[in-house]
Amino acid sequence: MKDIIRIAIDGPAGAGKSTMAKLLAKEMGIEYIDTGAMYRAVALKLLRSGTDYNDPEALAAMLKDTDVDFSGGQVMLDGEPVEAFIRTPEVSETASASSAVLAIREKLVALQRAMGQRKSVVMDGRDIGTNVLKDAECKIYLDASPRVRAERRAKELAAKGLPCDIDAVEADIRQRDFRDMHREHNPLAKAEDAAVIDSSYLTIEQVVSVMKAVIEERCR
Ligand code: DC
Repeated sequence: MKDIIRIAIDGPAGAGKSTMAKLLAKEMGIEYIDTGAMYRAVALKLLRSGTDYNDPEALAAMLKDTDVDFSGGQVMLDGEPVEAFIRTPEVSETASASSAVLAIREKLVALQRAMGQRKSVVMDGRDIGTNVLKDAECKIYLDASPRVRAERRAKELAAKGLPCDIDAVEADIRQRDFRDMHREHNPLAKAEDAAVIDSSYLTIEQVVSVMKAVIEERCR
């Protein structure tokens, strides 16, 4: 195996990227960087501060004073651990819309590149293999059908005692995919040299095992 291995995992929301990336990073003893959490942290700050991301001056002023980092595997916003606040529907919606804004992407991509420069990482997101770590040793595009992703989401909600309309969840997923895939800057796309894994009908163990085989083959 090479000394430094950067594993880029891209794909749509709900395909299982973060579950797989966390498991892989733990098994390999390397750092996991959840870039979606970084866009969510910025969205949280936009909401808390009432900053309009369509106002370039206000946004620039906010970003100048914003630090997003990881400490002990936790995403930190200006030194505060914010994991507990970034998974709400409001933050998800704001992250989805504001992640299309160039100034936000430029800031976070620079931070992500610095994080993945000199050490082994598993980094997941939408533009890791195509943009952030174009020279990653191993690129994986993890996909799953919109229906299966909606069913997984419905199960998570049911486990919390929250019933939902599965067709509405699927429609929402399709809309987010469209937005992620059609934005102007760094849209979600499969890198040419990425291995594609469809997790629709695989268990978590099966996906991890296929990923490990891909990593073994590409990083030997
Ligand atoms: O993976 P997630 O749902 O936590 O990501 C939150 C939002 O951030 C999502 O709408 C897509 C966006 N995102 C992005 O544009 N680029 C990335 N590298 C990661 C996430």
